[in-house]
Amino acid sequence: MTTARQIVLASRPKAAPQPENFRFEDVELPSLQDGQLELKVRYLSLDPYMRGRMSAAKSYAEPVPVDGVMTGETIAEVARSEHPDFSEGDLVLAQTGWVDAAVVPGKYVRKLNTHGAPETTGLGILGMPGFTAWSGLKFIGQPKAGETVVVAAASGPVGTMVGQLAQLAGARAVGIAGGSEKCDFVRDDLGFDAVVDHRDPDFAANLKAACPDGVDVYWENVGGKVWDAVLPLLNLYSRVPVCGLVAQYNTGGFGDRDRLPATMGTILAQSVLIRGFIQTEFAGEHYDEFLAEVGPKIADGSISYREDIVEGLDAAPQAFTNMLDGGNFGKLLVKVS
Ligand SMILES: NC(=O)c1ccc[n+]([C@@H]2O[C@H](COP(=O)([O-])OP(=O)(O)OC[C@H]3O[C@@H](n4cnc5c(N)ncnc54)[C@H](OP(=O)(O)O)[C@@H]3O)[C@@H](O)[C@H]2O)c1
Repeated sequence: MTTARQIVLASRPKAAPQPENFRFEDVELPSLQDGQLELKVRYLSLDPYMRGRMSAAKSYAEPVPVDGVMTGETIAEVARSEHPDFSEGDLVLAQTGWVDAAVVPGKYVRKLNTHGAPETTGLGILGMPGFTAWSGLKFIGQPKAGETVVVAAASGPVGTMVGQLAQLAGARAVGIAGGSEKCDFVRDDLGFDAVVDHRDPDFAANLKAACPDGVDVYWENVGGKVWDAVLPLLNLYSRVPVCGLVAQYNTGGFGDRDRLPATMGTILAQSVLIRGFIQTEFAGEHYDEFLAEVGPKIADGSISYREDIVEGLDAAPQAFTNMLDGGNFGKLLVKVS
């Protein structure tokens, strides 16, 4: 019998998650059945969407039940296989949740293929967040040469990819990030055309100065005061892919209607297209196309990225809580084994 360590949702947070919202458990794995794999987890991805799963509020996905294992994608090694397509030692992507080992059906597991890039990219820039950026720009944002694309959380995996793909399309990329270290990285390492610090008291004026021709694509990752600052800058026929609202995830919902009249007025006056999306809408049909197009660019260094790797499964709850307040610097991963 193999023992697995797992982290379950002990209670639902009311604001920022607290240590008592999580519980560590050691459990025995079930015996391996036909078609199943026993996995040893190497890396766990921590993503902002997990905050939504901790809440019982109606959303696009079912919440994690109280006492259920926290949801999450991992890179794992096949320890034992009863599935014809997988052998011991294969590296795979699996939805195991926050665990260090699991028994899963082989049919829900994908072999890891990062086109020569490091394996960890399979959870970040070449994984779900990178695909989110690629698909949302391709099908909604559609930046054109000479346009201005603005993205917040610019040092994270989604923002990193949005800005660099916008530049490859000939657009000007303006990033928004929290603090000088992240801003330096976005401008100097990622090569964005401009960057603005959302913690600066003059943030709105600085953003306006960084976008002298207005904003053609605003990639919405955060909401809140960033949206307030972008709204007056939106150009005629601008596009707003609504990807995430991380500034609101700990505030207990999306009930703030204060800005609705201003938002609706701008949508009308500037013929703005605002379109929310969840990456699963495009993943089934387009994931392989994304990997084939972007994988070689990651492997040869023409698209840059940064990862923030914390050690040990037990570090996951605190690292996750920190991320929701900007405590991560790059794609947040937990090195489990
Ligand atoms: N629609 C989809 O299918 C989909 C898929 C994946 C991700 N997403 C969304 O995409 C967004 C980015 O995800 P990611 O994985 O790339 O995350 P990330 O950038 O690695 O982490 C979240 C970042 O949000 C920023 N942030 C937090 N609170 C903020 C605030 N009040 N104001 C401004 N910025 C704030 C912080 O960066 P700074 O310190 O720089 O502010 C923090 O590092 C999230 O909203 C996520 O939910 C959506």
